[in-house]
Amino acid sequence: MTVEKILLGFDPEPRNILPALKKISASFGFVDEENAQKMADYFDISISRIFETATFYDLVKTKKRAPLEIQVCSGANCATKDAYRVIREIERQLKIKAGDQFNPKIRLEIVSCLGQCGNGPVVIINETAFLRVTPRKIYDILKNYL
Ligand code: FES
Repeated sequence: MTVEKILLGFDPEPRNILPALKKISASFGFVDEENAQKMADYFDISISRIFETATFYDLVKTKKRAPLEIQVCSGANCATKDAYRVIREIERQLKIKAGDQFNPKIRLEIVSCLGQCGNGPVVIINETAFLRVTPRKIYDILKNYL
């Protein structure tokens, strides 16, 4: 599947920018500058608007994926259920810092609501969701990925 083929599945209207971004991100792992420019040409808008839209949504990636991608929800519901203790425990066990963009192997991101508020804290590892995560569960979850 090429970017051009994906774009042809959408009418070039503003309401289709986000769905197209999501599909390209899911298909290629992220939306790089070249593909963002193709989108900008297709939708007849600036590339900066494409990236503005892309960076607003956590599900659209603008950087190449790391082999281990971890997202932890810090939305209000998860935050009140110790999401930040979960984040600190992941940082401690993996010896990384949330938001570090320079680790080529592991990326830990703190993201906004993932739509599973009743089951928080929510952790997503390489697109697999873990619900009601506690700091004590982190070791058992992470050992399957290391
Ligand atoms: S607040 Fe965490 S899933 Fe909604």
